[in-house]
Amino acid sequence: MSSRISILGLAAAGLLLGTVGRSATAVAKEESDRVVTFYKDVVPVLQKNCQTCHRPGQIAPMSLLTYKEARPWAKAMKAAVIARKMPPWFADPKYGHFNNDRSLKPAEIETLVAWVDHGAVEGDAKDAPPPVQWPDEGWQIKPDVVVDLPPYKVPATGVKEWEQLAIPAPFKEDTWVTSVEISPGQPAVVHHYCFNFETHKPTTVYNVYEWMEVPRDDDGVAKNHKRGADTKEGIVLRRAVGTTVETRQPGRQTIRGGNQFCYLPGLPYEDYRPVNAGVFVPAGSDIVVSMHYTANGVDLIDKTRIGFTVTKVPPAKRFIPQDGEDGQNAPIVRKQAIQDLAIPPFDSNYLGPPADITFLKDLELVWFRPHAHMRAVSAQYKLIYPDGREEIVLNVPRYDFNWQLTYRTSLKIPKGSRMHVEFRYDNSANNRFNPDPSKWVYYGDQSWEEMGTPNIGFLVDR
Ligand code: HEC
Repeated sequence: MSSRISILGLAAAGLLLGTVGRSATAVAKEESDRVVTFYKDVVPVLQKNCQTCHRPGQIAPMSLLTYKEARPWAKAMKAAVIARKMPPWFADPKYGHFNNDRSLKPAEIETLVAWVDHGAVEGDAKDAPPPVQWPDEGWQIKPDVVVDLPPYKVPATGVKEWEQLAIPAPFKEDTWVTSVEISPGQPAVVHHYCFNFETHKPTTVYNVYEWMEVPRDDDGVAKNHKRGADTKEGIVLRRAVGTTVETRQPGRQTIRGGNQFCYLPGLPYEDYRPVNAGVFVPAGSDIVVSMHYTANGVDLIDKTRIGFTVTKVPPAKRFIPQDGEDGQNAPIVRKQAIQDLAIPPFDSNYLGPPADITFLKDLELVWFRPHAHMRAVSAQYKLIYPDGREEIVLNVPRYDFNWQLTYRTSLKIPKGSRMHVEFRYDNSANNRFNPDPSKWVYYGDQSWEEMGTPNIGFLVDR
């Protein structure tokens, strides 16, 4: 393919995306001046934007560390970056500023495309930057402390409800945790794995899985989705770690893991080090996990690990979750009639019950993590300041259930502000993730049911 055609093609793609700024002729001139090679031009982009996932032991199906590994994927790489399918990043560039924005700059897309169009030349290995020293054993962070969760048997079939588990946190003294990574043993079946730190209560029993019986119809749809239904009261099931004996008892759930820290498909670790912040964990705290497995046809044993980095020197700022520490002193009030969610069959543009979040103190918002399921197609966060000024602070026009991303930012929010959050759903056949467009879809925990949860995280001064 001649360079002229490829560049015109790219310019056309750029016009469609509205992002490629430079004129085709300017690029053509620059490009004709030198040969684009793997080592000199492509490796820096792969290191910065691709290798966190595209290396052995990570979630991507192939490694892009070496020329030999990357070369067969040259054409696929070109297609994926032009379509902006890779790297996965879904924030509308018109709004907000995100410090973990991993999307490629137009010039980087041009580099990859030019490399592919000119025969994917290897070049001279001496031109390559030194390889990145990635942490061992599949970690993204280099943990100081690791907790091994008890092995969990995930059956090949059947519906698993959300299960809760309390274990002691591994810290004997008051500790500042500066980063947290949840590393699933079997990512294929982990739908979510989240936890909160909590003060130990006398009623909290360690190493017993606890979950609620959820009455479901033949399609697996929960029958207790109706507004006002108390989903924490009913038949409570329990099973001790390492046993298969289940007990059933009417009553209330005794533990409920929050979503202060989460593993979700595509979600990276939490790291407060770059913003000089940490999470304060008092001595003797518990870890309360909420986990949800989705059977995928094979019996598996999941061994999830949680890794922490810690510091002796208290950092300048403290992370606080939206539900408050220990479920108390929540810094926000969230109003959302989410149990009214009822998406009609074949509706291609359904607006879910919006969330309205009021800020009770001055806060620095540091991340957004919009969460919904297979029918969700977009999410938008709009901030309304106390003086009435409105600003869209995150717009996700193409929500993708397979990529649960955290959008990291620094947004100073004055007390009295309000955040209005909307999720939209496509229950038509146009939605390629839709398991069945002919069904009504209600609020529920399973991925064939729906949600629209506007998770956010904050920092305050220590
Ligand atoms: C956050 C993790 C992550 C990052 C970062 C990432 N990828 Fe991927 N990539 C994946 C996963 C997972 C898949 C397989 C699932 C899929 O195709 O969505 C994939 C698939 C691909 C494919 C195959 C697509 C196809 O058509 O089958 C290509 C090519 C690719 N990635 C290239 C890249 C390039 C180039 C970059 C950097 C510019 C990149 N990826 C960054 C995780 C990632």
